[in-house]
Amino acid sequence: MTAPPATRPNLGVTALGTYVPERVVPNSDFEARMDTNADWIESRTGIRERRFAAPEQYTSDVGVLAVRDMLARDPGALKDVDAVICATVSPDALMPSTAALIAMQVGLTGAAAFDLSTACSGFVYGLSVAQGLILAGTARRVLVVGAEALSKIVDQNDRNTAILFGDGAGAAVVGPVPDGYGFQDFIMGADGNGGSSLYLRCVAPNLPGGFAMGDSVGMNGREVFKFAVRVLGDSGTQVLAKSGLSSADVDWVIPHQANVRIIEAAMERFGLPMTKTIVNLDRYGNTSSATVPLVLHEGVRDGRIKDGQQLLFIAFGGGLSWVAGTMKWWAGTPSLQPEQRQAAGVPG
Ligand code: UT7
Repeated sequence: MTAPPATRPNLGVTALGTYVPERVVPNSDFEARMDTNADWIESRTGIRERRFAAPEQYTSDVGVLAVRDMLARDPGALKDVDAVICATVSPDALMPSTAALIAMQVGLTGAAAFDLSTACSGFVYGLSVAQGLILAGTARRVLVVGAEALSKIVDQNDRNTAILFGDGAGAAVVGPVPDGYGFQDFIMGADGNGGSSLYLRCVAPNLPGGFAMGDSVGMNGREVFKFAVRVLGDSGTQVLAKSGLSSADVDWVIPHQANVRIIEAAMERFGLPMTKTIVNLDRYGNTSSATVPLVLHEGVRDGRIKDGQQLLFIAFGGGLSWVAGTMKWWAGTPSLQPEQRQAAGVPG
């Protein structure tokens, strides 16, 4: 592991919460309205079902519920938070930011608040930005939310995209952790040349060069697939080297959940078995910026991710963008302890 400068505090995740909407949408729901079938979706993607937000539920709403999930188990989790980042590709509005709307509803009015737009890479990008804000002395703790209501921006009759995406949210507080724990390194990148592979129109009708966008998510699935397999392997390998680690040191790979075949290819590149990663896209589909916190929280809740274990985050998304990070897991606060231990009465 690269030794941090002596003055650099150890920073990591100090609280975690998640939320998925109640409505379950199985693959079979798409058969009635488009030329697809449930078996094709499951065999080509690994997805069996996803969650859709209620008609009146938007990204700020699911984000707030993820923060409230954290607070239910750790009421003091937001103490000293003076900045809020919302990673999202489905913001309630371009202004006000979804981060400001979430902050207002969880008692953080006055904190800095801004949205981060790197699509599915957004949550892990947000962890790195949060680390930078704290190291620069600008913030003490930062709330990073990955929240999406993708069902509102995806054409539900387009078989290229509709079958893939779901709604959900995850929230994490970044702050000081004890020696030997927390973030080690991040690698972040983007290449706008791939912008036409994954896009959604906002103000301009076309991308530079004249590529026409539409009013719902557009995607060249094969191009994104090839890009994803390459960047997950490359960026994961680079960040491990930056931290002085090899893949044999990794206890858990925490990947963006887009397609189980993409995750399998990344694990093969690292020479690691699928038992070293956590997959939940079978139940939630691709929730963009929410996939990483949802997977992380699932592993923490069910006791798979244990105190002191080495994590490797890998994600990719629109931009096209990519990010990888290394972190030693710290389980020191109530929202980071396996629920089964608490249920069994084992003290934290
Ligand atoms: O977070 C990032 C967001 N996006 C992604 O990560 C997407 C990455 N890409 C993928 O996951 C995959 O490329 C898809 C799941 C989107 C598509 O799977 P694929 O194995 O790459 O399929 P394909 O595009 O190569 O198409 C294979 C066949 C085609 O038919 P022909 O030409 O072989 O007759 C498609 O027309 O499957 C057909 N097809 C479908 N059939 C049933 C494409 N979409 C569907 C569908 N249902 N929904």
